Amino acid sequence: MPANKKLLILPGDGIGPEVMHEVRRVIAWMDRRRAVAFDLAEDLVGGASIDATGTAITDTALQRAWDADAVLFGAVGGPQWDTLGFDTRPEIAILRLRSELGLFANLRPAIVYDPLVDASTLKPDVIRGLDLMIVRESTGGIYFGTPRGVETLPDGSKRGINTEVYTTREIERVARVAFDLARKRQNRVCSVEKANVMETGLLWRQTVQALREAEYPDVTLSHMYADNCAMQLVRNPRQFDVIVTGNLFGDLLSDLASMLTGSLGMLPSATLGAPDATGRRHALYEPIHGSAPDIAGKGVANPLAQILSFAMLLRYSFGLEEDAALIERACVNVLANGLRTADIMAPGCARVGTQVMGEAVVRELDKLTA
Ligand code: IPM
Ligand code: MG
Repeated sequence: MPANKKLLILPGDGIGPEVMHEVRRVIAWMDRRRAVAFDLAEDLVGGASIDATGTAITDTALQRAWDADAVLFGAVGGPQWDTLGFDTRPEIAILRLRSELGLFANLRPAIVYDPLVDASTLKPDVIRGLDLMIVRESTGGIYFGTPRGVETLPDGSKRGINTEVYTTREIERVARVAFDLARKRQNRVCSVEKANVMETGLLWRQTVQALREAEYPDVTLSHMYADNCAMQLVRNPRQFDVIVTGNLFGDLLSDLASMLTGSLGMLPSATLGAPDATGRRHALYEPIHGSAPDIAGKGVANPLAQILSFAMLLRYSFGLEEDAALIERACVNVLANGLRTADIMAPGCARVGTQVMGEAVVRELDKLTA
């Protein structure tokens, strides 16, 4: 018998624990019906960890993340921690996990599911069938570059500093992830930067182009300035297959892309590290949505993004493509059956809460495998 897969669950704050609860149903189902067994561990993260331990993520939790085969992350943050400084905020937990586990490739799909085509603020004709993948670099760039800080000038005024830094190695490794993904999709990559005003942008463009010539001649590569990309994403999002970009532009463009689908509560993400000699790689999976403190504890949050994050985990950490696709199909079917949480409610549909949605996914899994 192969060893069980080690999964660390970090539910976090706000709706995080509620939606994670529904994923546990799906995990139990997988165990029961597909014989995919996990050793589950759970720990605190974000505000919950700050309240209990004084820090957004403890060294013990980081070590457990390091030891796990995959991490399933909920969401962190809330108004009660908003006044904390940069080094102590709940958000520092996700930044430390990315940085200390070396999770440099943040995969953010934006998919329009047919039953939800009317949920977008864009016209259905523009977004129907949309399936794009943003690959955002997530351990470098201006998020981590030095020097950084705020200094006081001789006249008493202040000067804030952050630094955009990218090396060829950092650019190449994330571009490889994008090219490899493209090969399994429509084989097109669009690389995004500001080569017209930033040296890091020009280096990014040249490095991605050189890598394409050397290793991926079969993949179609285009380049786009980040501002134009934002505009093109709204004008005609289906022109894109895979977008690869740096940390800050990726942060902005992935929020924009997610709202093309009109349903933030639906979108999962994966953040991957480099494979080691045995092919094992650190990886973290989380929904794109945040902790939504305004609806926390009410049982109305949409659990589908968290469940779909678990599907991504099966696909990217364990190569369980069939099981991942099964969960995705179950989620789409539940929507096609007319069930909706409040965030995606539409006329003529049945409004349900977090738990009913989770149970419906499990029932659908039963049906699909009956
Ligand atoms: C994201 C978030 C994070 C980021 C925050 C919470 C640090 O906005 O994952 O997109 O800026 O990367
Ligand atoms: Mg963001």
